[in-house]
Amino acid sequence: MQKFYDKTDINAKKYLTGSSFIDYRTQPRAFKKFPTFFLSYDLDEFEELKFIKNIGKITASKTYGNVKVDLRANPSAGGLYPSEIYIQLRGIKSLVNGIYHYEALENRLTLIHELSNDGVEFYFEDKTQKKIIFLISNAYFRSAWKYEKRAIRYILLDSGHLLGSIYAALELENLPFNINFNFDKKSLNEDFSFDNFEAFYTSVFTQIHKELECKKLRTQIVNVCACDYQLKEKFIEEFYENSLKDDFPIVSNIEFLKGIKKEDLQKAIDTRRSIRAFKKEPISKEEFLFITKDIFEFAQKYEIEIYFINNNIKEMKKGLYKNVELQKEGDFKEIATKLGLNQKLSGDSAVTLFFTSKNSENIFYLYILSGFISQILYLRSTLLNISCSGLGAYFDDLSKEFLETSNNIFYLFTIGK
Ligand SMILES: Cc1cc2nc3c(=O)[nH]c(=O)nc-3n(C[C@H](O)[C@H](O)[C@H](O)COP(=O)(O)O)c2cc1C
Repeated sequence: MQKFYDKTDINAKKYLTGSSFIDYRTQPRAFKKFPTFFLSYDLDEFEELKFIKNIGKITASKTYGNVKVDLRANPSAGGLYPSEIYIQLRGIKSLVNGIYHYEALENRLTLIHELSNDGVEFYFEDKTQKKIIFLISNAYFRSAWKYEKRAIRYILLDSGHLLGSIYAALELENLPFNINFNFDKKSLNEDFSFDNFEAFYTSVFTQIHKELECKKLRTQIVNVCACDYQLKEKFIEEFYENSLKDDFPIVSNIEFLKGIKKEDLQKAIDTRRSIRAFKKEPISKEEFLFITKDIFEFAQKYEIEIYFINNNIKEMKKGLYKNVELQKEGDFKEIATKLGLNQKLSGDSAVTLFFTSKNSENIFYLYILSGFISQILYLRSTLLNISCSGLGAYFDDLSKEFLETSNNIFYLFTIGK
C-alpha cells in the first residue's frame, strides 16, 4: 500500500524537474449518459426524491475564454468530477423499484435495472432490503488524464466530498446516513460490466425497507463508457486491487450538521464554492471552533491526525498546532504558502489544515474520510460566509519536514476571508 502511495508524491526535486504541459482539448468527458431508450425521470416530479439534486447539481458556471464550465454542488480536484452516482431505490411512490444512474447535470434518474427479488444488498454482509443505497463509482481516467499517478489521491478525496454531499442532502430530509465500504466489490463491479475503467468502492445506505434478503442481480447491468475515450492505467488499477479491504467499520451516527436550520443548510449547499484568493482578513476563534466542531475527535477515531497552521485566527496564538495543541509558535504564512506548492491560498488563509495519518494500511479509506470531513468544513464555512478551498497540490516531503512527522500527508484545507 505504502509503496504505491509513495509513487504519487510531489517532492521539491520532482516538482522542479517535471513537465506540466496539458493539452486541454484532450480532456475526457466528465459525465456519463445512457442511451435515450432507457427510461429516465425528472427528479422534480418526485417529491420524495427532489433532495437528491443537492448531491451534484450545477450551482454556478464560469467562462474561460470561449469555454463555459459548469460547477457543481460538490467540489472536485481540477473540476474533473471523476465519480458517478448510482442509486438503488425501493418503495418510492409511482417509481419502480430499481437501480438508477443519477444524471447530475440534468437532474434526472435513469433506470438501468428493474428489481425483482434481487438487489445490490446481495453483495453486502447484511443482505436485508434497504430503502435507498447510494453507490459511488470512480471513473479514474477522467482524473488520471491530467494528474497521472497522483490522481488516486484526488479521486478518493472527491469520493469523500461526495459522501459529504450525500450526508447533507439526507440531513435535509432527516434520513439516516451510514457509510459502508464493505462489500464484494469484485463481483458487484463485474455485474455492472465496468471492466475496471470504472468501479465502486464506497456506498451509503439509509434505513431498512423490508426484513427480506436479496438475491444476486439477476442480469448484468448495461454499461456505457464513463468518458468519450479512455486509456487503461495499470498503476491505478493495481493500486485499487491492492488496497481494497472489506473490514472497515460502518460509519454511522454522524451529527455534524444537526441543529442547523434546514433553509440555512440548503443555502449553504447552493452557494458553496472554492475561493480563488483570500483578502487576508482574520476569522474569530469562535468561528474557527464552529467550523471545526467535533472534527478533530472524529478524525482521531480513525487515526487521522489534523495539524493546522494558524495564520490569522484572532484570539489564538499564531503557529503550528497538532490536533488542538500548539506545537510551534510563530508566523508561518510564508512557509504555509511554500508547502502548498506555492499556492497563495495556503499562506493567505486564516487557517490551513493538514490531514495526515501514520496508518498506511487503511490509506484508501482514510483518504475518503478526509474528503468527507472536508466537505463538512466547506458547508460550515459557507454557513458563516467564510471562504475555503481544498488543496490537493502540496509538497509531501516539505510538509512532513515542517510538521516534524513521518505521517503521510493526505490533503490541505484552507479557510479564511
Ligand atoms: C480533492 C480536491 C483538491 C483540490 N485542490 C486544489 C488545489 O490544489 N488548488 C486550488 O486552487 N483548488 C483546489 N481544489 C478546488 C477545485 O479547484 C474546485 O473544487 C473546482 O474548481 C470546482 O469549483 P467549486 O469547488 O467552486 O465548485 C481542490 C478541490 C478538491 C475537491
